[in-house]
Amino acid sequence: SDSLRSLASGIGLRIGTAVNTDQLANNPTYRSITASQFSTVTPENVMKWEVVEPTRGTYDWSAADRLVSFAQANHQLVRGHTLVWHSQLPGWLTAAAPQMSADQLRAVLRQHVTDEVTHFKGRIWQWDVVNEAFNDDGTLRDSIWLQKLGPGYIADAFRWAHQADPKAKLFYNDYNIEYTGPKSNAVYAMVKNLQAQGVPIDGVGFQTHLDTQYPLPDLQANLQRFAALGLDVAETEVDVRTPLPVTPTEQSAQVAGYTQTLQACMAVKRCISYTVWGFDDGDSWVPGVFAGEGAATIYDAAFQPKAQYFALQQAL
Ligand code: XIL
Repeated sequence: SDSLRSLASGIGLRIGTAVNTDQLANNPTYRSITASQFSTVTPENVMKWEVVEPTRGTYDWSAADRLVSFAQANHQLVRGHTLVWHSQLPGWLTAAAPQMSADQLRAVLRQHVTDEVTHFKGRIWQWDVVNEAFNDDGTLRDSIWLQKLGPGYIADAFRWAHQADPKAKLFYNDYNIEYTGPKSNAVYAMVKNLQAQGVPIDGVGFQTHLDTQYPLPDLQANLQRFAALGLDVAETEVDVRTPLPVTPTEQSAQVAGYTQTLQACMAVKRCISYTVWGFDDGDSWVPGVFAGEGAATIYDAAFQPKAQYFALQQAL
């Protein structure tokens, strides 16, 4: 019956997936589901710094360009992910950064943001400009960016991105900010502060990596308070993992997690997109990172839709 993307388009919502570009190139089933079910795509890895600039000064946009072309051919929008992050940095940068002065490192970051946003200018709907800058206790993460540049690197990154592509929507993106608490309160305070300084920030991305073992008390109200600041909000990396093997009780909780997260977005007018972090269990990042857990996506490893898929279809 109806695809997720056609159902979502009827209510003005974009539904997306993170894309593994190797699978996209090699697996026709993967390609066909990506094209038919989703109206936005996010590169799971191929726009990250270590991929686009493996050697200092030598860019490789090829994998990302192929995804952007695929998206255009299939009338999909692209979430650019991600410009400034502490992880998946190229080896040359992590090796050189400790010896650089603040001015040198700031120049390197500025060049990266400017060059990447310029390369994709006009072809990115939402950019995750800064990713995961906070700790769970609400303090800023101790990254090379904070250590050398101080907290001002965040505002700088948004300004540089805006200069390079004034029409792209610029997002701050993080995990464990779906519910109110020290981390989401800190992001909320930062965003208000950026707005007060006139920094060009358009939205906040809530990654939404859920686990059936943890509750999700107030997602909708939390999305709403950010939207009330005049921002767009988006669920950017939804998955709902569980300890393996999955029991029927656990799968019900996973289904409820997908339903709740989609319904929260649908209830908030400024929630403009809902993106899953991969659609099939065979390509999910979860088993490699969370020991003993998995089954976090909406299709099984044989690309058969699970109850989680039908729950999204039903909610739309
Ligand atoms: C993950 C990818 O899914 C993995 O393939 C990669 O090895 C590590 O990064 N938050 C993010 C994403 O913002 O970029 C991460 O993606 C998952 C957590």
